[in-house]
Amino acid sequence: MKGIILSGGYGTRLLPLTKVTSKQLLPVYDKPMIMYPLEILLKAGIKDILIIVAPDHAGDYLRLLGSGKEFGVRFAYEIQDKPEGLATAFLIGENFIDDDNVTMILGDNIFEDDVAGTIRNFKSGGHIFAKEVPDPERFGVVKFDDQMNAMKIEEKPKEHLSNYAITGLYIYDSRVVEAAKQAKPSARGELEITELHNWYLAKQELKVDILKGEWIDAGTFETLFRASELKRKKSQISNK
Ligand code: TTP
Repeated sequence: MKGIILSGGYGTRLLPLTKVTSKQLLPVYDKPMIMYPLEILLKAGIKDILIIVAPDHAGDYLRLLGSGKEFGVRFAYEIQDKPEGLATAFLIGENFIDDDNVTMILGDNIFEDDVAGTIRNFKSGGHIFAKEVPDPERFGVVKFDDQMNAMKIEEKPKEHLSNYAITGLYIYDSRVVEAAKQAKPSARGELEITELHNWYLAKQELKVDILKGEWIDAGTFETLFRASELKRKKSQISNK
């Protein structure tokens, strides 16, 4: 299993915080944000991790994270020139992935659940993590059967599909590169991750896990603040 942290993008919703630095380097309580998704991959025992960053901040990531030696793993870095969609990570990462399975996590997603077992036990196909939310129309949403097979996926559904939002953590086999190559840009000009999910879904090879703990996409002032609160609470509990 290899790992990818997708940590590019403009972070426009956090301006002016993101005027001189990358969103995923902003503090979440006591650490730069990216350290939390990195910890998820480390906990799952992943030893090869590709960090995809925007051109302006590559030096900062290298200074923060280095070679990976400090963590007992290897880091590779790639630049994403423009944020042209989550699925482009698998085009940028084609050589890195090679014939291996890959877990991708977004650099601004904070998870409370322990997903190490699911990552370690992954065999083939696609695997996504969904969280029940009160406002599914704001997210990519998945409907699934009682065997946890995905049945339908829709981006920001206008009509109710389910209450389960798809979070920024995904596991795929190496065919994800092929799926990304076949994907066509959406109306907003991005290669959408939904295209990859539909590729696996068409083959009935897309599994769903439900997250029980908190999931925070820390991309707004409100959620960035909530992420810090969550991590402060956790650290107080573990210091007791
Ligand atoms: P978003 O939060 O959708 O985009 P953004 O980070 O550019 O922020 P804003 O909408 O405020 O301008 O992206 C989700 C995550 O994925 C975030 O960690 C950035 C990352 N991302 C990339 O690295 N490359 C991309 O092409 C896209 C679309 C997102």
